[in-house]
Amino acid sequence: MDERLERYVTGLFAAEDPALAAIRARHAEAGLPPIHISADEGKFLQVLLRAVEATTVLELGSLGGYSGVWLARALPPHGRLTTIEKDPRHAALARRAYAEAGVAAKVRLIEGAALDALPALSPGFDAVFVDADKEPQAQYFDWSMRLLRRGGLLLCDNAFFHGAVVDEADRSAEAEGVRAFNRLAATDPRLVATVVPIRDGVVVGVKVGA
Ligand code: DHB
Ligand code: MG
Repeated sequence: MDERLERYVTGLFAAEDPALAAIRARHAEAGLPPIHISADEGKFLQVLLRAVEATTVLELGSLGGYSGVWLARALPPHGRLTTIEKDPRHAALARRAYAEAGVAAKVRLIEGAALDALPALSPGFDAVFVDADKEPQAQYFDWSMRLLRRGGLLLCDNAFFHGAVVDEADRSAEAEGVRAFNRLAATDPRLVATVVPIRDGVVVGVKVGA
């Protein structure tokens, strides 16, 4: 999208409050990679969560907590975001972000690798947002489908992976992981899905079959 149009939409629909702005600023100061979601992407996720009246959301990859604040704010007071982060520095920043944004009571942060933590979770999530390391994405797809309720949303960041998905020379494990996830999302008969071209591309799917 044209950058001016992106700014226009973000300013009109996805303006950050001071808490979100501070969390994003601290993310940069702490030297975390600049790979958090954008504000317009956060608002898009909120619209989707509201559409299914989500109360339980699972996030893979908390990073500094910026996306988690957008997600948790779309949940009712009794809602629960379960978010998994393997880097202890990221997890510490994320905890601080949830507290500052006033959503800590709605967030359960699990510190560890997603593939270690996922087997202990109970199914029935209203939505899963996959935004973690890219190599195991096919496994993240399988776990997400297992843990989602019927009618639940499968959401995944970086569907384009900076264009790498169509760069045939890129045979990296990360690019192949993203391609594998996209292929599964496109072809799994339990899912109706597409990609929305916000920022780096967002996979949006509805689980229609068990
Ligand atoms: C990268 C970007 C992301 O948004 C992400 O979630 C993970 C990795 C990247 O640019 O490598
Ligand atoms: Mg991402």
